[in-house]
Amino acid sequence: MKIGIGSDHTALDMKRAIIEHLEAKGHQLHDYGTHTTDSCDYPVYAGLVARAVRSGECDRGVLICGTGLGMSYAANKLRGIRAACCSEPVSARMATEHNNAQIICFGARIVGEQMGAAIVDAFFDAEFQGDRHQHRLDLIAEIEQAD
Ligand code: RB5
Repeated sequence: MKIGIGSDHTALDMKRAIIEHLEAKGHQLHDYGTHTTDSCDYPVYAGLVARAVRSGECDRGVLICGTGLGMSYAANKLRGIRAACCSEPVSARMATEHNNAQIICFGARIVGEQMGAAIVDAFFDAEFQGDRHQHRLDLIAEIEQAD
């Protein structure tokens, strides 16, 4: 799978660990930054990854900041994007199975590298279950269109 990944300065080491982990599993990673520990603004990287996913440049995405929250707020502003902020693998799996989320977010100040790896594995190894869950996603899209 082609995966776009982005982080802010709080999550550089975590991002490197996740890139290595996902590449070892055969995924193709595209790192949209940040690339240094200089303080930066997480919405910039959320926007780059969410746009890459929405355009089809990447199949899915990973966004990591201190908590994962800011990244998810920013990515979810793009019409059609569902970015799930998860601190454990059960929610990450459900984010794919029930919500067909395209982007997983988590916090480098909240979880360690092993948990981060477990979160992305649960997210990418699961499959969307469709059916009634698709109907509910259609209702979310309706709210978006009406707004
Ligand atoms: C940066 O200090 C921090 O606010 C950011 O990484 C993230 O946690 C925001 O939601």
